[in-house]
Amino acid sequence: MEKFVITGGKPLRGEVTISGAKNAAVGILPATILAADICVVENLPDISDVAVSLKILSVLGAQIKMINRNTYEIDTTHLTGTNVPDDLSRQMRASYYFLGALLSRFGKAQVAMPGGCNLGPRPIDQHLKVFSALGAEDSVDYGMITVRAKELNGAHIFFDKVSVGATMNGMLSAVMAKGQTILENCAKEPHVVDLANFLNMCGADVRGAGTDVIKVRGVEKMHGCTYSIIPDQIEAGTFMFAVAAAGGNVLVKNVIPKHLEATTAKLLEVGCQVEEFDDSVRVISDGHLRHTQVTTLPYPGFPTDMQPQMAVLLGIAEGTSTVTESIFENRFKYVDELTRMGADIKVESNIAIISGVKRYTGARVNAPDLRAGAALVIAGLAAEGITVVDDIYYIQRGYEALEEKLTKIGAKIARVEDEKELQKFILKVS
Ligand code: UD1
Repeated sequence: MEKFVITGGKPLRGEVTISGAKNAAVGILPATILAADICVVENLPDISDVAVSLKILSVLGAQIKMINRNTYEIDTTHLTGTNVPDDLSRQMRASYYFLGALLSRFGKAQVAMPGGCNLGPRPIDQHLKVFSALGAEDSVDYGMITVRAKELNGAHIFFDKVSVGATMNGMLSAVMAKGQTILENCAKEPHVVDLANFLNMCGADVRGAGTDVIKVRGVEKMHGCTYSIIPDQIEAGTFMFAVAAAGGNVLVKNVIPKHLEATTAKLLEVGCQVEEFDDSVRVISDGHLRHTQVTTLPYPGFPTDMQPQMAVLLGIAEGTSTVTESIFENRFKYVDELTRMGADIKVESNIAIISGVKRYTGARVNAPDLRAGAALVIAGLAAEGITVVDDIYYIQRGYEALEEKLTKIGAKIARVEDEKELQKFILKVS
C-alpha cells in the first residue's frame, strides 16, 4: 500500500498551481451524457475520482479521447447502457450523478448505493425526492438503486436539507423534463454554478444557480461544447493551510479568490497574512498561530471539506479553539490520529475543543478519509521529525499530484510503495 513519508519542520516557499475542482468535475462528466454529442472538458483534475467517472462513461459506451493529462474529449452520441457497474459506483460518492443524467436522457438508470468517504450516514432521500417529483419511480434492491420514468415533467421542489448532491442531481434530471422545474433551498457552492454553466453551454436553460432558487426550463435536445472546469477551492484552501501550519510564503495560483473568502477569513483570524490578486492568493505565515472558533456551514460559510485542515491548524495555535461540524455526523475520525502526533483535542458531540500545543511530533498515522488524510499531511509538514501517512488512496481521490506540488514549494515528502521503500527513505533522511 502506498504511503506518504514526510520530514516536517520545513517552511514552504514558492508558487503552487491549483487544479480543476473535483466536485465540479464529478458532476460535469456525467452531465456530458445529456449532450448526446462531443464535449471537450478542460482543466479536469488528474485524480482517481475523475478516472472512475471516465471509466463509468466508457462502460456506458462513450468514446473517450485523452487530449492531455487534464483535457478529455467525450463523445456520448451512442451510449449502450444505463447500468453503472456496482464496483465502479461504490468507489465514489458522486456516482449518484449518473442517476440524474441517465434518467434524464434515457428514462432509466441503475447505480449501486454510492460509496465515498464515510462521514456518518449520507442518505440520498433528497435526490430521490426530485426524481419522484419529476415523475420517476425508484426502488432499492440488494444495494442497487433503480430509477425509471415514462416521461419527466417539470415540478416545484423544496429541499428539506441544503444538499450539494441533490441540487446538482435536480438540475441534471430537470434539464430535459417537459416544462419548468423550480428547485428551492438549493446549495450555492461554486461547483453547483459550474455545472449549471456547463449545462447552459450544452443548450440547457438553467437560471439562478448560486442562489437558493434555481429555475430550469426543459429543452428538447442538448449539444456538445468545450468547457473548462473552475479551480478547486478545497485544494487551494488545503495549500493555504499547509503554509499557515508549516510557515512560509507561497503564491497559490489559478484560484478564484471569491470562492476562498471563508478560508481566507480564518487564516487572517489566526494571524496569517493573505494577499489577494485577480486569480491567485499569497499566504504568509511565521508559524505562530492564534486560537479561534469555526463552524462548518453550506457555502458561503466555512466548508466542511476544510474542517479537518482547520482543526490541524488550531491544534498548534496558542490557546483554546473550537471547531463545530454542522454538516456531517461523523467527521472527527482523524482526531485519534492527530492525538498520536501530540494534539490535545476533545470531541463532545459535534464540537472539537482544541487546546493548542507548541508543535506536533512525527508519528505513523492512517488517513481515515480524503480531507482528513490531507489534514494529516499538513500536520506532518508542521511536525518535528518523520510522519508516515498510510491509506493515501483516499487522498489520491481528490488531490492531483499532492506530493509533487508540495515538493516544488520546499516540502520534504515522498510517496513510497511499501515498507521496504519506506525504511530506505527513513535511513536516507535520518
Ligand atoms: C458534497 C461533496 C462533499 C462535501 C459536501 C458538503 C461531492 C461529490 N461531494 O457531498 O465533498 O463535503 O457536499 O459540502 O460534491 N443529506 C440528506 N439527504 C440527501 C442528501 C444529503 O440528508 O439526500 C444531508 C447529508 O447527510 C449531509 C447534508 O445533507 O448532512 C449535506 O450533504 P450534501 O451537500 O448532499 O453532501 P454530498 O453531496 O454528499
